[in-house]
Amino acid sequence: MTKRLTKAVIPAAGLGTRFLPATKAMPKEMLPVVDKPAIQYVVEEAVRAGLTDVLMITGRNKSALENHFDQVPELQQILEEKGDQKRLEAVEFSSELADMHYVRQGDPRGLGHAVLRSKLHVGNNPFAVLLGDDIIDDRDVLLDTMIAAHGKYGATIIALMEVPREMTDHYGIATVEATADDGIVKVLDLVEKPDPADAPSTLAVIGRYVLQPGVFNVLEVTEAGKGGEIQLTDALRRMAIEEIDGGVYGVIFRGRRYDTGDKLGYIKAIVSLALARPELRAELHEWLEDPANRTA
Ligand code: UTP
Repeated sequence: MTKRLTKAVIPAAGLGTRFLPATKAMPKEMLPVVDKPAIQYVVEEAVRAGLTDVLMITGRNKSALENHFDQVPELQQILEEKGDQKRLEAVEFSSELADMHYVRQGDPRGLGHAVLRSKLHVGNNPFAVLLGDDIIDDRDVLLDTMIAAHGKYGATIIALMEVPREMTDHYGIATVEATADDGIVKVLDLVEKPDPADAPSTLAVIGRYVLQPGVFNVLEVTEAGKGGEIQLTDALRRMAIEEIDGGVYGVIFRGRRYDTGDKLGYIKAIVSLALARPELRAELHEWLEDPANRTA
């Protein structure tokens, strides 16, 4: 019998070097996408999937992340006095979203190391991991499908997305075989950031996982890999090959996903999510379509 999922872990302790100098004094997960920091989209997604117990793995500059999900009595009072109900609700919404917990990673030694920091909080239960800089468009479904697949297979579930071959060196890449379920594959092998010429496929691991608790034992003995970091992909590779704790399956995602840790991905997120807002859509569309705004 598979245990019910209640916990989400959100790693947000990376250095964000691709976004320097913006990330000098602020985590990249706090960069605004339209009018909310990227991390709020991620927490909202977890909550929509029923995961209201959220553990955030933070690093330096942790206070901005913690403060965002906390009450701000003086600001709330000012908005209340002004009768600005809409903005008051927006401020209160982010502080009441989920049951937030925080743990520090200390030295950011890689995503695998960050996930291992959640062991005490998670215990012997399956849990979801949502990368704090990866936004899945809320018009598309992913986490619900992954949770259902976890219930069915009793295995670790990763999210996979087709990427252009020249991009394989930015992702973990999977070797897979079909299952009887459309859109769900069995993962046979994984390799972190292979050169396009060596990539076994173009199916890339993206930032959503439903992990079996067996991952902790594997992470504890996983040594630093690519880039000198303890890679989650390396631990998942072992779980897939040795079929540890049910092995690893992949849900193929064909929706919209934005890597806000990357400059172009961040800009795409803002444009696409702004176009989804009724109050911004028409004017932004007009501006984008106007050739006068497209000249370099
Ligand atoms: P990235 O691979 O984007 O790494 O992390 P990064 O260090 O944050 O960014 P760059 O490459 O220097 O620009 C993916 C996710 O994993 C978290 C990050 O915060 C991000 O949400 N992460 C990464 C950690 O929590 N700890 C780490 O040690 C590494």
